[in-house]
Amino acid sequence: MTAILAIESSCDETAAAVVEDGQIMRSNVVASQIEIHRRYGGVFPEVAARQHILAIDTVVQEAMTQAGTDWAGLDAVAVTCGPGLSGSLLVGVNAAKGLAISTGLPLIGVNHLEGHLYSSRLAVDGRLPAPAPFPVLGLIVSGGHTELVLMRNHGDYEILGRTIDDAAGEAFDKTARLLGIGYPGGPAIQEAAQGGNSAVFKLPRAKTRQDYDFSFSGLKTAVLRLVQKYAPVSNLRQPSAAAMAALQNGTMPVADLAAGIQAAIVEALVQKTRAAAQAFGVQAVLVAGGVSANAHLRQEMAARLNCPVQFPPLFLCTDNAAMIGAAAYRHYLAGRFSNWDLDVAPNLTLTAGD
Ligand code: KG4
Ligand code: ZN
Repeated sequence: MTAILAIESSCDETAAAVVEDGQIMRSNVVASQIEIHRRYGGVFPEVAARQHILAIDTVVQEAMTQAGTDWAGLDAVAVTCGPGLSGSLLVGVNAAKGLAISTGLPLIGVNHLEGHLYSSRLAVDGRLPAPAPFPVLGLIVSGGHTELVLMRNHGDYEILGRTIDDAAGEAFDKTARLLGIGYPGGPAIQEAAQGGNSAVFKLPRAKTRQDYDFSFSGLKTAVLRLVQKYAPVSNLRQPSAAAMAALQNGTMPVADLAAGIQAAIVEALVQKTRAAAQAFGVQAVLVAGGVSANAHLRQEMAARLNCPVQFPPLFLCTDNAAMIGAAAYRHYLAGRFSNWDLDVAPNLTLTAGD
């Protein structure tokens, strides 16, 4: 049995978990900063880093306590080293280094995206999921990422496409801000879209030069133009007080707009994923990241792809450390450890040699 303490602090969740053999979550503790960032309508990097500093010791202690382990019961310390916000990543990486040095445990730096891809391998309620056979296509969709990844084997990745502007989650967050319906935008739009008709507003589906790339900035501009018909919203950054007023007095068809936005984002994700799945003859598709919690995306992926589609359970869609522990186990088995000079890599990508 191999037990790994994993730490995740790449964005706005401070998380620690103890994971056994890459699959069993002995603990999975997440301290979310969402209420703090709600005030700004998005993640404020400087604030996020400082919140990680305040939370990290308690979160790690709690993960150890819940797992019922001491340091002697662990085999390695793993940590997300990128991609993400540099100030946020630094807190987790420094904590992990300190712990590894003082306990003599090996250190494993993990790519956050690889973590998302391993989130659906974790056992939930004692049930071990059947691992998808390779090659697998991964769609990682979150507030910071929209990547289509071909996974030929453990550690063998090829990025087939990514967003050329906003991430899918960012598109939800920014358009929700325009509608004045709150943060984070994904759950807010999903809820507002209930009972809405997605055919009322024809929103653009971007054409991109590369087959598997995504683009969501045109959608954002189209929504801005539409909202301006109902409320004098001057730009995309402003929290939309005018939209909020239009929402409250019922002059803006929020449900139809939200349904249209959700349909446009989901359509782009499904179309490109379906095309890549066919072109590369994959055995299965793994969808992960915060946006993979979206119910409409889940329905459409299941209905329109010709191969099995796996989603993590909802609580493992958003950032957590258990997925980092799951990915780290593969590095442990392969004897791939990090040196003490492990640095943060805010723009880290996935490659064939991971
Ligand atoms: O993976 P995550 O927790 O953090 C990042 O690494 O970004 O993803 C957060 C993103 C946010 O943009 C949020 O709006 C989106 O995931 N999200 C959703 C849903 N739940 C969270 N988007 C669409 N539908 C949802 N139900
Ligand atoms: Zn993430």
